[in-house]
Amino acid sequence: MLQRPKGTRDFLPGEMEERRAIEGRLRDHARAWGYREIATPAFEHLELFTVKSGEGIVSEVYAFEDKKGLRMALRPEITAPVLRMYVNEGRALPKPLRWFYFADCFRYEDPQKGRYRQFWQFGTELIGADSPEASAEVILLAGDLLAATGVDFTLQVGHLAPMKKVLAPLAPEVQARVMRFLDKRDFHGMEGYLADAAGGAGVSGWQDLLGTLKDLTAARSLEELWKLVGDIPERQAIEALDRILASEGLSFSWNFAIARGLDYYTGMVFEGFAGNLGAENQILGGGEYRLAKLFGGDDAPSAGFAIGFDRVVVSLRSVQEIPVERWPVVMVITQGKGRELAFSAARAFRDASSPEASPGGMDYRRPKRIVALVDLTEQNINKKMSHAAKVADFAVIIGDREADAGTVTLKDLHTGDQVPLSLDDAVTEVMKSGPR
Ligand code: HAM
Repeated sequence: MLQRPKGTRDFLPGEMEERRAIEGRLRDHARAWGYREIATPAFEHLELFTVKSGEGIVSEVYAFEDKKGLRMALRPEITAPVLRMYVNEGRALPKPLRWFYFADCFRYEDPQKGRYRQFWQFGTELIGADSPEASAEVILLAGDLLAATGVDFTLQVGHLAPMKKVLAPLAPEVQARVMRFLDKRDFHGMEGYLADAAGGAGVSGWQDLLGTLKDLTAARSLEELWKLVGDIPERQAIEALDRILASEGLSFSWNFAIARGLDYYTGMVFEGFAGNLGAENQILGGGEYRLAKLFGGDDAPSAGFAIGFDRVVVSLRSVQEIPVERWPVVMVITQGKGRELAFSAARAFRDASSPEASPGGMDYRRPKRIVALVDLTEQNINKKMSHAAKVADFAVIIGDREADAGTVTLKDLHTGDQVPLSLDDAVTEVMKSGPR
């Protein structure tokens, strides 16, 4: 038996319906904030991802040579593609641009629960705005979107400037390594590295530096932060952001150890965590960055985030059944003279739709519909009925008797009740029934 590749998943209809329901909520909320959906290619030139992060990331990327020998990569994330697209197509558009995307990404990871080689991100990018309000909008939107999914989450907000000030005496490559340790809260690894950096000499004064970094990691208020790092040029912007988030009543904590794994962030950074997931509990990451210039465009300030959609689904499913919109299902079963009427009868059910909201539905704007199936078997009526009972809520039976009388028999497959009705009345009856 052939198997699917490691780190990928198949989604059966029930799971797809749940995913679509959650995705629908995210789309609706993003659109209400004025964000509009875009799409970029599933693969890009590898250079798009190495130009900032270096060749080091190639091991984590599905990179390949195409038939012409060009180096390509399946997108490991979507921010760089979006900024490439902005430089290619979007520069003349009125800024700031508010864009969102929902698409799959590919990373060559060691798979485990919540970590896949193909996974989906719901992300937003705000391009061409640089103000505390812009940072606040991105964080507030992230909070709104996560809340819309129903997931139990916390938000941590940080800024790279304080950490960069502490690390300023170090060489850039040492800084980059230290930030990676910090991102993983791996102080043990960091200690070993600092003591031994650059081939045994160690970084001078590394014990003090390590102490300051630990204090920075523990700081949860701006007062503590300023005590540690003194005045920095970004102080006003950080304080303004703090005031906006507080006045919006957003529940979050400051965390100045957030370094983010990706190399392009420049200022505010933030992460979201699910309360009920294990090791892979980070469900959102984002921040401010500047990539447009690197890709040949203007130096547009940008900010955004991506939600790890699959992790949100895992988190939600572990605590509740995800409500999906259900429409009543009708199976049209015909015999004898009724056989020619099967598809037109089914169509009558499909064409009907109620203008009011679907009860229990996720997408409140969609009218309720009826799903109509036509029985395709050549079996006897008993077998047809027992199959219908497994997959439908109602059977609509049209045999010789019904065909002659111009009626149908409507059978409620949950209660067993059955009544002869005109086709129109049968449609009305099914439409009145709640979702099953
Ligand atoms: P990221 O933190 O690398 O950021 O990914 C965002 C989210 O995607 C993570 O928080 C996590 O929930 C999810 N994720 C990452 N890797 C996997 C995986 N292997 N399996 C399942 N879920 C995963 C970015 O990608 C940035 N582009 C976010 C951003 C947008 N920054 C600015 N704008």
